[in-house]
Amino acid sequence: MTVAEWNERYRTRERADDFSAAPTPLVVETAQQMCAGQALDVACGAGRHALWLATRGWSTAAVDGSEVAIAALRSKAEQLGVTVDARVANLARGEFPMEEARWDLVLMCYYLQRDLFDSLKNSVVPGGLALVIVHIVESGGEPTPTRLGRGVLHTYFEGWEILHRYEGESRDPAHHRPVSEIVARRPA
Ligand SMILES: C[S@@+](CC[C@H](N)C(=O)[O-])C[C@H]1O[C@@H](n2cnc3c(N)ncnc32)[C@H](O)[C@@H]1O
Repeated sequence: MTVAEWNERYRTRERADDFSAAPTPLVVETAQQMCAGQALDVACGAGRHALWLATRGWSTAAVDGSEVAIAALRSKAEQLGVTVDARVANLARGEFPMEEARWDLVLMCYYLQRDLFDSLKNSVVPGGLALVIVHIVESGGEPTPTRLGRGVLHTYFEGWEILHRYEGESRDPAHHRPVSEIVARRPA
């Protein structure tokens, strides 16, 4: 889907769970094992993860191409009395340059942009974590722009300590297609 199509989906509130879904289990499990620090949520949508982290003391930034989603995130943050540095930027057009060694935790959930992995990884502080969840093809299927092949995600994290690696059915009620998940620590 293009950013314009995402904007339309959010504007028409076509999918209620875009705005009401709980944070995905892996984000909760991972962040609960860390001290609150600085987090970046890439392709954050309406901010279910960024908001959850902010309410738990994380200093949180979030970026998405959809201004409708970012407006919803900002409004929810205000309701909750938390601060999230929420930005509108088209990642595919390089509108959000990621600072080197900036974040203790970087999330990229249910968004795939293959050429973003290097800058995403560089933006994690040494010893910090990257958490990525992407949709993958069905068994025997060919990769697509939005679905990675099976057994591929971990290859982007060579040299990193792999803390969690999973491939199979989604554990997130908001997502039904198979996923690949990884949590990896940048070498110190
Ligand atoms: C499936 S949603 C995931 C939202 C969130 N990460 C979550 O787990 O709830 C994918 C998000 O990617 C965003 N997106 C798609 N293409 C983008 C682009 N080129 N630049 C920035 N965001 C984009 C969409 O606006 C949408 O919010």
